[in-house]
Amino acid sequence: MINNRTIVAWLKLAARSMEENKGYLTDLDAAIGDADHGINMERGFKKALTLISPVEDRDIDAILKTTGMALIGSVGGAAGPLYGTFFLDAAKALSHLNELSNTDLVLLFESGLKGIQRVGKAKPGDKTMIDTLQPALEALRSAFAYGTDLIEALRWMVQAAKEGMESTIPMVAKKGRASYLGERSAGHQDPGATSTYLLIQCLLDAVESQS
Ligand SMILES: Nc1ncnc2c1ncn2[C@@H]1O[C@H](COP(=O)(O)OP(=O)(O)OP(=O)(O)O)[C@@H](O)[C@H]1O
Ligand SMILES: [Mg+2]
Repeated sequence: MINNRTIVAWLKLAARSMEENKGYLTDLDAAIGDADHGINMERGFKKALTLISPVEDRDIDAILKTTGMALIGSVGGAAGPLYGTFFLDAAKALSHLNELSNTDLVLLFESGLKGIQRVGKAKPGDKTMIDTLQPALEALRSAFAYGTDLIEALRWMVQAAKEGMESTIPMVAKKGRASYLGERSAGHQDPGATSTYLLIQCLLDAVESQS
């Protein structure tokens, strides 16, 4: 079962992962963008950790909302507002819960994805974080429909996220700075799709570490 401590553990692992993968994400962004994605993500999640410490014992929506505000407030560019909206919209969908059922977890990702699409207007195939998030959400839903337990469902989700991330390599970017490159954006993995994969992997790690 996911509770507020699991969510805090997830965000702590996410902050560490963004720090560890700062160079990797920035190198990916150097190929098709402006070489700041790793810097943006590391800064945003570091800020989120600082701001969530006073609300760690509150309901899950308070923690997610604080994370969203931290990302929007500290990260310029596209990814800060997009990831920020993910967390704010997930928070709105899960008000006053201290534990998440399987259905609630699906709702968290569904609401977050819808928020990113409302703000960024990207569709699957545009070479963005959506190409990781959408198949990951579908895998989570299918796993629960199939009757798997939480950890197994998250493993399906991570696998789908990895495939989604890799699917961006041949894509031509339609959104953000990478789209200025047109056909030349093909052949490179999208940085945002990669950070989304890392975030989903961290959720599995957080749940595994608590079970
Ligand atoms: N409209 C959008 N919808 C969803 N994701 C997007 C959109 N625009 C950009 N992205 C994601 O943001 C990532 C780039 O984030 P970054 O932190 O580098 O911000 P940025 O340099 O301002 O981005 P960009 O210049 O691409 O707008 C891309 O790899 C892509 O996954
Ligand atoms: Mg960038």
